[in-house]
Amino acid sequence: MPEPSADWWKSSVVYQIYPSSFKDSDGDGVGDLAGIVEKLDYLKLLGVDVVWLSPVYPSPWDDNGYDISDYTGIDPRFGTLEDWDRLRDGLHERGMRLVMDLVINHTSDRHPWFTASREGDEDKKDFYFWRPGRDGGPPNNWGSVFSGPAWTYDQTRGEYYLHLFSPSQPDLNWENPRVRAAVHEVALWWLARGADGFRMDVINFVSKNPKLPDGPVAGDYGIFAEHAINGPRLHEFLHEMHERAFAGRDVLTVGEMPGVSVEQARIHTNPVNRELDMVFQFEHVDLDHGPGGKFDPRPLDLVRLKASLNRWQVGLNDRGWNSLYLNNHDQPRVVSRFGDDGRYRVESATAIATTLHMMQGTPYVYQGEELGMTNAHMDDIADYRDLETLNYHRTMVETGKVDANAAMAGITRMSRDNARTPMQWTAGANAGFTTGTPWIGVNPNHIGINAEAAVADQGSVFHHYRRLIALRKEHPVIVHGSFTPLLEEDPRVYAYTRTLNGQVLLVLANWSGQRAEAELPGDLAAADAELLLGNLPDPGPVAAPLRPWEARVHLIR
Ligand code: GLC
Repeated sequence: MPEPSADWWKSSVVYQIYPSSFKDSDGDGVGDLAGIVEKLDYLKLLGVDVVWLSPVYPSPWDDNGYDISDYTGIDPRFGTLEDWDRLRDGLHERGMRLVMDLVINHTSDRHPWFTASREGDEDKKDFYFWRPGRDGGPPNNWGSVFSGPAWTYDQTRGEYYLHLFSPSQPDLNWENPRVRAAVHEVALWWLARGADGFRMDVINFVSKNPKLPDGPVAGDYGIFAEHAINGPRLHEFLHEMHERAFAGRDVLTVGEMPGVSVEQARIHTNPVNRELDMVFQFEHVDLDHGPGGKFDPRPLDLVRLKASLNRWQVGLNDRGWNSLYLNNHDQPRVVSRFGDDGRYRVESATAIATTLHMMQGTPYVYQGEELGMTNAHMDDIADYRDLETLNYHRTMVETGKVDANAAMAGITRMSRDNARTPMQWTAGANAGFTTGTPWIGVNPNHIGINAEAAVADQGSVFHHYRRLIALRKEHPVIVHGSFTPLLEEDPRVYAYTRTLNGQVLLVLANWSGQRAEAELPGDLAAADAELLLGNLPDPGPVAAPLRPWEARVHLIR
């Protein structure tokens, strides 16, 4: 077991595992817990401190496990509770920790709580949001995140229930204190079994405007957000959960919060408020969404990305804590999205990683990111498995509401399935992920991009991530230093400093395929600096121009 220390999560790097796509041990085509146990030495070699496990609970699998029907079990596709114990022990023996995914804004519609609720059970009838219809339709005009209305009529109960996601994911009614107590029990149950913390799914959705009023524009997710998220009791609910389940325990908590502002996050993550250690904000990963939403993407504008991330860096310094991520199971692969997954794949993956990992906050690495895994580039809708993608295709493309070719191009670039193709272990059959038929296609580029090849090559993306993670352990300035943005208007160079006790860390990254001069202030340009890390051979001094996708980290004493 790792040694407990205050705020250990500040100097940690978290690795996210999407279990169905990580490693299959029994040939059924779906990854499982025993498969993860086989790969713990790989994670140790990378140097990560914490594993966050996406949901492994029993689930009808409508939203790949984010629709839970039993909070304290393991879905048979992943193994058993004893397999989970083995994973916990394997991680703890290697000095790593295990964080579970807590999906508690909603359950599956097959959860016994929902079954009892729809039948009007005395204890459970107010566990969800039930309302009579209005004018022969739903109670208000909210749309769901996964297309279509946010309400579904239930014959048994004779009322509508609210689901901000799919109809199979009814929202729990956190206004009911018994719901909150039940959720606290779930967290305590996993902590008692040895979990080391939680990633809390869409946790800012748990408090809604209690009147559930109409949004200004019907069916628009962005508009309903005004009333359905960040509601008036959010701070109270999070603080209560902290006091009941987390206080006095050595845990990491990170709340997923679409639509959270810096100002709100500062309150949520300020330790004096005792709510959460950090949040996942979305501003920077929504910047390339176009007028038609995420499936209508725009090219990245680096100046806007810098403005956003830099504002979060400065905004949470001293009074909160950032999570640092560009990838997860809901985002396309960053090397394809913001980098260049062709000629400069290795260079751009490592430049982007350097930019992110040297910031203040806790970095998150999503499985395969450390290999520079790319988007799947699947252009046939039949190859997709993701509910959000398939619903969008059904409601927008098949009905002719959007141009089919443009929409398919958008899906190819932005679908969540880009992140969910199997982890690429080897150049062999099915990338060494399974001996069976994988539940979603393996990216053919595993022949060149795979863990076996990357571990053997000191110039690989993997070894650059390993160095970035190791550097964080050696230099407190990377963990604690304050952040100062540089060259904010430069369209190609991402530059900043971190400062702690007179020590200055200078980070320079060229986010383009052209050579770039960083016009640094004179004192920095002339500084006598030690080079801590570069992503290209023979890196030059501070003032040297940056080659395409070159990144350097200098330490000025
Ligand atoms: C979160 C999860 C996503 C899921 C949604 C509904 O955004 O990360 O995968 O679909 O919540 O639970």
